[in-house]
Amino acid sequence: MKNNDNIILIGFMGVGKGSIARELVKLSDYIAIDTDDLIESMENKTIKKVFTDDGEEYFRKLEKKVSQWLEKSVKHTLISTGGGFYKQKNIKNIGTIVLLDSPFDSIIKRIKAHPNAVKKLKKRPLLKDLIKAKELYEERRPEYLSLADIVIDVTNKSAMDCAKELLKKVKKYV
Ligand code: S3P
Repeated sequence: MKNNDNIILIGFMGVGKGSIARELVKLSDYIAIDTDDLIESMENKTIKKVFTDDGEEYFRKLEKKVSQWLEKSVKHTLISTGGGFYKQKNIKNIGTIVLLDSPFDSIIKRIKAHPNAVKKLKKRPLLKDLIKAKELYEERRPEYLSLADIVIDVTNKSAMDCAKELLKKVKKYV
C-alpha cells in the first residue's frame, strides 16, 4: 500500500463510484468520503450550482484544495472522486488509485436505467450534452488507465460484486 493507505476511486461520471464505495464500507473497516460531497459542504451549495454561479475553473480550484488536504491529513479512508479529480497533480501521493472502468454507452445505459435517472443526469453539468460527454470520455479514458494502480471493469456487474473484486485486488496489490 502507498503512503496514507487510502483507496481512491476514479472513473467517469455515472460509472458507479458512489454505489461501489457504499458497498465497500459494508465489507471493510473503511470510512468513505467523496470529493464532491466535501466541496458541496465547503461551499454550502450543490456542484451544479457551483458550476452555474462560479464556473468550472473555480470548481477545479476547490478540487485542488481538497486534494492537498487529502494528501496531508487523510489516512486509511476510501475516497470517491468526481470524474475530473484525477487531474490533480498530487493524486498519486494520496493513495492507491482504483479505476472503475466501463464503455461510455454502458455508463449512459446504467444511468438511464436508474429510478432517479433524470436527477442523476441533471445534477451533472458535464453530462448535459451527450456528444460532448462522449468526447470527454474518449479524451480521459487513456489518462485514467495510465494513472490507475488497479482497474476494475464494472460493466454489467452489481456494485457489491465490484466491491468484492476490488478488495481482493487491493489486497494482492499491497
Ligand atoms: C465531473 C464529475 C462530477 C462532478 C463535476 C465534474 C467531471 O462527479 O465532480 O460535475 O469533470 O467529470 P461524478 O463523477 O461523481 O459525476
